[in-house]
Amino acid sequence: MTNNKYTVTAALPYANGPLHLGHVAGVYLPADIFVRFLKSKGHDVAFVCGSDEHGAAITLRAKKEGVSPKEIVDKYHTVLKNAFERFDIQFDIFHRTSEAIHYETAQDFFKKLLENDHFTVQESEQFYDEKFEQFLADRYVTGECPHCHNPNAYGDQCEKCGASLSPTDLINPKSTLSGESPVLKSTQHWYLPMQNHEAWLKDWMQKGELDGQPHHDPKMWRNQVVGQCMSWIDGGLHPRAMTRDLDWGVPVPLEGADGKVLYVWLDAPIGYISATKQWALDNQKDWKEYWTGDRKLVHFIGKDNIVFHTIIFPIILKAYGGLILPDNVPASEFLNLEGDKFSTSRNWAVWLHEYLERYPEKVDELKYTLTAIAPESKDAEFTWKEFQARVNNELADVLGNFINRALVLTQKYYNGAVPPLNELTASDKEVIEKIKGTPDKVADLLYRYKIREAQAEVMQLARIGNKYLADNEPWKLIKTDENRVATIMHIALQLTTNLAGLLAPFLPKSAQQIASFLQIDHNNWNRLGNMNLLAEGHLTSKPTILFSKIEDDFVEKEQALLFANKMETTISASQEKAPIKDDIDFEHFTQLDLRLAKIIHAEKVKKADKLLQLTVDTGIDTRTIVSGIAAHYSPEEIVGKTVMVLLNLAPRKIRGINSEGMVLMAEDAAGNLSFMTPEKSFNPGDSIR
Ligand code: 2FM
Ligand code: ZN
Repeated sequence: MTNNKYTVTAALPYANGPLHLGHVAGVYLPADIFVRFLKSKGHDVAFVCGSDEHGAAITLRAKKEGVSPKEIVDKYHTVLKNAFERFDIQFDIFHRTSEAIHYETAQDFFKKLLENDHFTVQESEQFYDEKFEQFLADRYVTGECPHCHNPNAYGDQCEKCGASLSPTDLINPKSTLSGESPVLKSTQHWYLPMQNHEAWLKDWMQKGELDGQPHHDPKMWRNQVVGQCMSWIDGGLHPRAMTRDLDWGVPVPLEGADGKVLYVWLDAPIGYISATKQWALDNQKDWKEYWTGDRKLVHFIGKDNIVFHTIIFPIILKAYGGLILPDNVPASEFLNLEGDKFSTSRNWAVWLHEYLERYPEKVDELKYTLTAIAPESKDAEFTWKEFQARVNNELADVLGNFINRALVLTQKYYNGAVPPLNELTASDKEVIEKIKGTPDKVADLLYRYKIREAQAEVMQLARIGNKYLADNEPWKLIKTDENRVATIMHIALQLTTNLAGLLAPFLPKSAQQIASFLQIDHNNWNRLGNMNLLAEGHLTSKPTILFSKIEDDFVEKEQALLFANKMETTISASQEKAPIKDDIDFEHFTQLDLRLAKIIHAEKVKKADKLLQLTVDTGIDTRTIVSGIAAHYSPEEIVGKTVMVLLNLAPRKIRGINSEGMVLMAEDAAGNLSFMTPEKSFNPGDSIR
């Protein structure tokens, strides 16, 4: 393996809220493991991160909390930084995009791209909130998604179907500031003509070639990353605005561009470079070393950031000139929690800083579980039951048990001194082969970003060690064959020492503890795979318990906490009733043909979890209505019910079924639905007014 140099980045988290376990499992933990491994292998590495302090994510949060954007970023930068430190994620620097050095760097990029004709200037009509006198970019507009009809899509993206949108794509757009319909107003922006870059991007992505030269091994990239990127390119790239009309962000460095700032997705990734510059200044290094030459650039991100790191930022880096492009972008899929998506608005999350407050001593237990279930190539799920099982059955019963036995028996039989290695049996030789082979196997997986499998491989060695002691039962043999016991204990101790080094990237605290029991330096990967890490006679010390078991009441408490948080959020949301709608005339009201109807048949709509197909007797006719109530009622329980329907709603095809009308439902704050059935026994066709 060549001694490659690396610059590793982890997505800059928005400084608008704390981190949950989904962020940690998908981005920060795998990046930290990878970097710890590289450093232990002796690679020259810089590991940079920081908070992303611009964009609508910040200003909208500030508006919600009723404070300034500056107060928001100061508060959450500290929350993020502390949580990373306490979780032992070791960035070389955790910077911020509000620092002067970042402004200078981002503005320098803008100017250089402008000078070299990499931008086009376009005048266009954009949404404008007349009440707030502000243009409405990205998340400042919400409305109905033109693709999936989600009524709450954002101006830049529909979170339901994942479509990437422009504000003007939205049906019935509303300003998030005033809640009113925006008007169109003309404004000028600088655009990146991404379509001019399609050809080289394709070669780079598919063949791993840049300017006709080999650049990276495309087989090393995750399928979903290449897939998502290619589907963008194949769909045709378009000019993308790199500036915004906002008063929060890096100002556009041009005369006459007052009130304009850089688009957050231009400014944020440049944050990796400004973070490197600050780190280099603090450590007497040259930042350029880390962004030029034959160094590998690796971006750890979540899947929602793929196009920014595989298309937009590479275009910017190449256009700037002289800088390296990513060698790999190991993006993760999503992590779910106890059967549902992580959700900040519904407070369905385990927040890292809160976990660390409750269990400051259980850092490695969480790291281990999150890596064991890491969403590397498909979505995964965290449950407290699984956390308990992983800690108890794997960390405590296998790893902890093995290490404890090895060291306790060494104390007991040899006062801690490593016994000699005598004649070897076939089973000894097998274990020794595993010790020798594991480090390269793990390293190979790590170089290929298969971090979950790499950890499993390390655990496999612990399992082999545990079984070796259990099968050989030195505690029985000691009475009859002391020579044999010396060999067994010698092998077990060499295995333990190798484990300390192998575990170091994954479970740094526990690895350090094991190394201190053994009284060795453990953090040098290149020495691993050897049977001479401990000299005969070397003194080891008495161990303490590495992992304590997780009791059932721990799991119950954590599950209850999740539900309590969600309930509390739902109750407070229900107290915030939607504002009353605008007045309508009586005339308009009488246009609604509202009547009672009886459900005479109901069945599920194929391949649509939420829909039921109803046949209703309206008193005038029998008709079909498709209704989104399948999560609330089963077909069997509703046949025979008299419900309220809107008869003259224009017919619509839903999943190929012609739906004529709408069943009216009451909905509470938690989204529960209920029919509105008359209190007295009325007949189909009776009117509602
Ligand atoms: O999605 C996010 O949380 C963004 N703040 C990630 C930015 S990554 C980078 F480019 F800075
Ligand atoms: Zn959609």
